[in-house]
Amino acid sequence: MTNLDSDAFVFFGATGDLAFKQIFPALQAMIRHGHFDMPIIGVAKSAPGLDLVARARESLEQHGGLDPEAFKVLSARLQYVNGDYGSQQTFRDLRKALGSASRPLYYLAIPPDLFATVVEGLAHTGCDKGARVVVEKPFGRDLASAQELNRILRQSFKESAIFRIDHYLGKEAVQNLLYFRFANSFLEPIWNRNHVRSVQVTMAETFGVQGRGVLYEELGAIRDVVQNHMLSVVALLTMEAPTGRDPDALRDEKQRAFRAMRPLTPADVVRGQFRGYRDERGVAADSQIETFAAVRLYIDTWRWAGVPFYIRAGKQMPVTATEVMVELRRPPQAVFDVIDQSETNYFRFRLSPNVSIALGGRIKMPGEAMVGEDLELILRPGSADEMVPYERLLGDAIRGDPLLFVREDGVEAAWGVVDPILGNVTPLHEYEANTWGPVETDQLMSDGDRWHNPATAEETQPSRDCVERQPRKA
Ligand code: BG6
Repeated sequence: MTNLDSDAFVFFGATGDLAFKQIFPALQAMIRHGHFDMPIIGVAKSAPGLDLVARARESLEQHGGLDPEAFKVLSARLQYVNGDYGSQQTFRDLRKALGSASRPLYYLAIPPDLFATVVEGLAHTGCDKGARVVVEKPFGRDLASAQELNRILRQSFKESAIFRIDHYLGKEAVQNLLYFRFANSFLEPIWNRNHVRSVQVTMAETFGVQGRGVLYEELGAIRDVVQNHMLSVVALLTMEAPTGRDPDALRDEKQRAFRAMRPLTPADVVRGQFRGYRDERGVAADSQIETFAAVRLYIDTWRWAGVPFYIRAGKQMPVTATEVMVELRRPPQAVFDVIDQSETNYFRFRLSPNVSIALGGRIKMPGEAMVGEDLELILRPGSADEMVPYERLLGDAIRGDPLLFVREDGVEAAWGVVDPILGNVTPLHEYEANTWGPVETDQLMSDGDRWHNPATAEETQPSRDCVERQPRKA
């Protein structure tokens, strides 16, 4: 630990879903990997006698497994502060629990409408001195509320002390997207409107809202994942190379990419809701919240002018997978067999649940005739031992490294893209579970484009025809 690192970890929302699924597992992983040595304080408004250690145990047993050694350390360091976020007493109790810590990290794992109350509580009791703050997505509900949240945060914290989490940016596969683009020279000549026909980003999940009905009713797919995860992926795909190594060189380019995204209009959006959503606990009987959204986005730069970016995200889809498909233009003439609409070259970035990068190409089938077939060349990262996003991101925040966090101007620019389509400005179409969403989604496609539905993890296993991680000859 350096004297710039945070020296206490405090998480608000200690009894919540996020803490249960992500924070306890990340804390255990950081302890296990030996780079986490500080008091851990959970804050929540719950029963005063709540046993937070028991809850941590339950969380780990259900999410990733309990490591007895690391758990012993975690439970010895874990303290619980119970109280209402609106009461200054809660923050005085927190100050006491912090002891001699002078550079705490506060993680606001709470709904966005409570951010302001907590930040003000920290400021009024002097808990904000020397501190950093990590805030969860979604950062606000729209552009105006995001601006207001930024204003409130900036009253107590410098931008360099604010860490806005989008856990997609902590995913190994998403980082690899950026790495692959700028660590290879063969992409750059074709990574533009002259060679790329369209780009698709699909985030499909087979499950519904998993008991998060109350929270989801405040969000919907556009606020939950399009404004943040999906647009961040598009920014990484379309940004220019950073001109330096410092975190802001990269974030400046990402910001330019966000700013070049043309704000969406109702004609660019199809919203859907799966049949059965309204029966979920906490969901209104006449809910107009979308569990599926598809958008067509344009990037107004010389590099990307006219290239459609199709984005889809939905619950209750046929597979769980996130995939990027960069489709290249077709050859100008069919020299051999007829090349039909579906046969193109492409790059396919599989971001989850399995990770790979594939190049789709066409080769001649053995035999007399000049007839081809489509095959993929697959690159797959070697080790399966990847760091979970929350471990990486919380570790970065503790060290004060802002690279993988969303900057103030970035979050506002991303809200600016979706702001015109929030709420009920577009119709809501019902779709059956286990389908690819409403049929209206096809209407977003232009010029003979069609949706590419990601395959299951098993189906994307390479066949014997694929070359996988061919070692380079010495
Ligand atoms: C979260 C959304 O940010 O991302 C969830 O709130 C979604 O609705 C989740 O299921 C998906 O993330 P991952 O990492 O599990 O693919």
